[in-house]
Amino acid sequence: HLPRKVDVYEVGPRDGLQNELRTLPTRDKARLINALVAAGEKRIEVTSFVSPKWIPQLADAEELLKQVGRRPGVVFSALVPNLKGLERAQAAGLEEAAVFISASEAHSKKNINKTIAEALAGAKEVTGAARKAGMRVRGYLSTVWGCPYEGHVPVERVVDICRQLVDAGIYQLSLGDTIGVGTPRQTEEILSALLQHMPVDTLALHLHDTRGTALANALVGLSAGVTTFDASIGGLGGCPYAPGAAGNLASEDAVFMLHGMGVDTGINLDRLVEAGEIAQELIGRKLAGKYLQAALGE
Ligand code: HMG
Ligand code: MG
Repeated sequence: HLPRKVDVYEVGPRDGLQNELRTLPTRDKARLINALVAAGEKRIEVTSFVSPKWIPQLADAEELLKQVGRRPGVVFSALVPNLKGLERAQAAGLEEAAVFISASEAHSKKNINKTIAEALAGAKEVTGAARKAGMRVRGYLSTVWGCPYEGHVPVERVVDICRQLVDAGIYQLSLGDTIGVGTPRQTEEILSALLQHMPVDTLALHLHDTRGTALANALVGLSAGVTTFDASIGGLGGCPYAPGAAGNLASEDAVFMLHGMGVDTGINLDRLVEAGEIAQELIGRKLAGKYLQAALGE
């Protein structure tokens, strides 16, 4: 029994471009985002209001939001690590913020220079302040399936952190397989542990496709009733503070599978391929997305 409609939450402009060595000019980022909107994407994470010292590729967040403007029916979001980031996001007119923390101490330290406890306190603080300012807040938990520095991550810890984030007022929690080590049975175990404590529509899956298991894990989520899947155009992406992290599940691969199974996304697959072609042109290399390469080869 599958959901009839799901959201593909696009993270290519943020998760993809944060990991490119070359920083794209702002107008190129805006062109890519425009193509994603034209394809019918409705939820797009466009940038991050993080420290430009840590992620120089996204230092132009304010200017980018100015260039993309507002689109009816489309929600642009961005990562917000602290109150300083929230202040910037608010001034830029952002409607939705995303807080992000890790389920493993070592990744937390490397990624945001905080322990899990400090990060959780910070995320709660940002969530409260953002909601007061009228923004919706999404949350990410990274390294749920495994950590590049510590390996195994206990599911009890994942459940505990997720419950605290949801209690803090986020509307959705995106579970990150940051380095793409998850396999389907593990996905089933993680979801069933969490679903004892929260409704399924609270959860999203953020799967990196490093080892080719993202779509298989997404299918497990779909069967469990998950209705939001993070994906990036062409499979762009990674995390610069998680060695070995490759791109996300490719948006076109997700949409192709979902439509083939009779699950609606509201996205036009042909237009999405056009956006993928633009992404390749801007990045200057072939992207990993399988559907994209198949469609362009025809
Ligand atoms: P820090 O160095 O510990 O803290 O960084 P700080 O407060 O001392 O800040 C250092 C400098 O940055 C200061 O400037 C601050 O003012 C400035 P200075 O005084 O040296 O000139 N600063 C800022 N500037 C602009 N905007 C801000 C901001 N905050 C501080 N918001 C910090 C701590 C959290 C800021 C830093 O570690 C950081 O920005 N980290 C972000 C790393 C990141 O973006 N990683 C990738 C995203 S996470 C991901 O990809 C995983 C995900 O996809 C899910 C998954 O796959 O699992 C979401
Ligand atoms: Mg990611």
